[in-house]
Amino acid sequence: MRIFKLTSVVICIAFLLSCNNQDKKKSGDTAMVTAKTNEEVVLDKSVAKIKSVLGSLKEADSFPRNITKGKKEWNKVGVRDWCSGFWPGVLWYAYEFSGDEAIKKGAEKFTEPLKTIAYTPADNHDIGFMVYCSYGNGYRLTGNEEYKKILLAAADTLATLYHPKAGTILSWPEMKHKFGHNTIIDNMMNLELLFWAAKNGGDKKLYDLAKSHADVSMKYLVRPDYSIYHVISFDDKTGEFVKGATHQGYADESMWARGQGWGIYGFAMSYRETGDEAYLKTSQKLADHFIARLPEDGIPYWDFDDPKIPNAPKDASAAGVVACGMLELSEQLEDKTLKEKYFKAAKALITQLGSDAYFSGDTNDALLLHSTGHYPNNSEIDVPIIYSDYYFMEALLRLKKIESKNIES
Ligand code: GLY
Repeated sequence: MRIFKLTSVVICIAFLLSCNNQDKKKSGDTAMVTAKTNEEVVLDKSVAKIKSVLGSLKEADSFPRNITKGKKEWNKVGVRDWCSGFWPGVLWYAYEFSGDEAIKKGAEKFTEPLKTIAYTPADNHDIGFMVYCSYGNGYRLTGNEEYKKILLAAADTLATLYHPKAGTILSWPEMKHKFGHNTIIDNMMNLELLFWAAKNGGDKKLYDLAKSHADVSMKYLVRPDYSIYHVISFDDKTGEFVKGATHQGYADESMWARGQGWGIYGFAMSYRETGDEAYLKTSQKLADHFIARLPEDGIPYWDFDDPKIPNAPKDASAAGVVACGMLELSEQLEDKTLKEKYFKAAKALITQLGSDAYFSGDTNDALLLHSTGHYPNNSEIDVPIIYSDYYFMEALLRLKKIESKNIES
């Protein structure tokens, strides 16, 4: 019996070695390894899961948002929820990686209902998240002219929230009673839609408006130690700056993890769009501060200053956003050492998110576990959230593109 087992093991090892050898093709003197990279393996698993979940979702006007602890299926929201664009965005990324026509059809189906956001009055700054993640990715991958029209209309709609005296977009009209004219760090992400529109046939003023928003955000949202306020308030009449505060973080002066991520990504993207070195420096300093405060397993707690740490929930979504931001940063920087520094830090986040500790496997219909949405509101604590999956897919694809480019060069 023992001899039989030993023989089986030897045969298995020989088989695996021969498979491995078949994966290597001789090209001149160098052996070209065609084995999949870690992120390709995770992307394969992710796309298979996304495709299977897509098959179970029948209503195109209700969108996955979160999964209740212990449950398997997504809780859905309507088209006006700020998270409605992430599921179509996840589908576009899955299509980009796989080229699977059934996933493309799904992406088109779930993108379509978001058209209304572009053509109805803006009720918050999230238009960028909703429309750029869905139609933006759709246009990038298909060149569909109808999508372009909708994106341009969405940019104009978002611009209606601009306050010329404060120099920023109003993030939450419904919170004016509490914060006056308010601007949140998340809003930096929505500038991408405005920058895109200004160079794709939209009003050139959209560029100035986005630039002003980024400048004022840099001045007041970023603290001297390069942590970030969640919210800044301005006098609605005069546009004068009033104060920094929080809404979703632990305290006004604390470092809310996802906010730090929106800042790292938002300023790196703003540098790409404007060439303003101050944004690049800011993104770098924000990233340095984030990296310096990471806990041992490399994934942030929901707020770096929650006194319950290490017994506080994590936020995998913040890790995904930061990974994308640091890959953008690494691409924009010219200094080789710095490029590598942020690339490595981003890759470490992505690798950890793809590990058994965070990747959900068969647990439920999401890709990632352990995100935290709005802790002070007692909502979405330590659960799967759709934007976590969206930025994870984006990070995996960004990483794959950079690594392929590095192999070619
Ligand atoms: N934009 C809202 C959030 O990050 O939770």
